[in-house]
Amino acid sequence: MRSAVGRIAGTASAFEFEFVVTNAKAVKRGDYVKVWNEKDGWILAQVSEIVATESAKSAEKGMVGKARVIGKREGGKMITPSTPFIPGENVYLAEDSMIAETFNFEKDGVYLGLLGDSSVRVTINPNFLVQKHVCILAKTGSGKSYTAGVIIEELLDRNVPLLIIDPHGEYVSLKRPNKMAENDFGVKPKSYADKVVVYAPPTSPFLSEADKELSLENRNLSPEELIELSNLRSPSAQALLYQALRRLENYTISDIIREVEKIKHSGKWTLIGALSKIESSGLFKDKPTDVRELMRRGRASIIDLRGVEPTYQTLIVSRIVSKLFELRKRGEVEPGMIVVEEAHNFVPEREKVVSTNALRAVASEGRKFGLGLMVISQRPARIDKNVISQCNTQIIMRVTNPNDLNAIKKGIEGITSEMMEEIKRLPPGYAIVVSPEIEIPIVVRIRVRKSAHVEATKVVESEEVEERVEKIGELDSERKKGFLSKIFKRR
Ligand SMILES: Nc1ncnc2c1ncn2[C@@H]1O[C@H](COP(=O)(O)OP(=O)(O)OP(=O)(O)O)[C@@H](O)[C@H]1O
Ligand SMILES: [Mg+2]
Repeated sequence: MRSAVGRIAGTASAFEFEFVVTNAKAVKRGDYVKVWNEKDGWILAQVSEIVATESAKSAEKGMVGKARVIGKREGGKMITPSTPFIPGENVYLAEDSMIAETFNFEKDGVYLGLLGDSSVRVTINPNFLVQKHVCILAKTGSGKSYTAGVIIEELLDRNVPLLIIDPHGEYVSLKRPNKMAENDFGVKPKSYADKVVVYAPPTSPFLSEADKELSLENRNLSPEELIELSNLRSPSAQALLYQALRRLENYTISDIIREVEKIKHSGKWTLIGALSKIESSGLFKDKPTDVRELMRRGRASIIDLRGVEPTYQTLIVSRIVSKLFELRKRGEVEPGMIVVEEAHNFVPEREKVVSTNALRAVASEGRKFGLGLMVISQRPARIDKNVISQCNTQIIMRVTNPNDLNAIKKGIEGITSEMMEEIKRLPPGYAIVVSPEIEIPIVVRIRVRKSAHVEATKVVESEEVEERVEKIGELDSERKKGFLSKIFKRR
């Protein structure tokens, strides 16, 4: 056994203890240590703090550590000791094998990265990860898409069917191997070119770069969808649309245009113009893309939505996701996972968009039918809380915006105030992972990618602008205390 790094001193309970540091070079905050418990044997704990002290009476200088008890794995469950630790017991650094066993990191699990600064591999059961939903939340540039890429690689290695909603076309680089040197993670470069198929709608300026064109069925678009797509604001044109649709059943867009042409009303031309524009987008076809093809074993179908109008984006997501869920319920596609980047645009918190219902349905019922969801967002405060709370695995990277921090605090069980502080300071590539499989939140250094990662290019960094505006708001409320702060609190 390794030599001791400390000795329990002062008061100790079954949940935490203080220890005199006897080897200051060997132990630091965040380290995992083990201590003998009279009744329960070796127990894992984590150093939460180390402080330098000087005793007033004896002028004795020294380091004192504080540790939080994690527990031990027994019969598959994490248990905490039933009796306190005894002052005088030695504190040792825990072996990697003990840490892995206590946290239940399975040998064949999805490899996310390394635990803190240790060399313990953090792995999660793939079935749990896929079926019980995942969210990845962090401010822009902290490594969300990179981490999502890591999970996608791991799932592709296990042939899990994946559908990726990709508003910035950044997952296309899965086709290329990463150019990297030796690394601490034991990861080798790999291309997923044989497993990735990129789809783009005909309205995309990047269609020529896609493997296949994506189209949707031209039948039975709802009046709300048609109004949304054409941005039809005129009340009389909207009324004419409802009038025409009342007379139609199982209709195509051409059928509606023909019906509207029959109406004697001068307002009909605006409507015909709007409908013709939708028809000429080429997105809606008699023989559309078969949604079954998008969810196949050993394949990731990427829907590249770069440069596609937001209303078309939400409609595409809504149609594909709801159809896929229907097929999955009937067992016509295999269990798999839907990955949604920029999820705050597809299931926003405050308003409802065309794709809201479809994604909410998968979030709340998908697990019953083996359809998993991975949502990724840089605005935790702007994404539907119900969807976040349905995610059993929560991966949080650096967040600094107070509203977003608040959303995380509310949405994630078992997150301590120390951890909230940690979230503000996480370096890029580090994440806090919360999962019932692991039982307590852990810090993970996300592994390097096997395939290439391309940072998304965004025209405007909206979050930074929003943050600035919010900051000004906070300053104001500080200044005017009372009145404004009440309003802010009520939100
Ligand atoms: N685990 C990691 N290892 C090495 N580099 C990383 C890691 N995570 C992120 N990076 C690097 O950090 C940069 C930002 O990462 P990423 O594109 O994933 O950010 P993001 O959170 O998705 O940002 P955005 O909100 O703008 O989409 C990338 O250049 C990436 O290479
Ligand atoms: Mg990203």
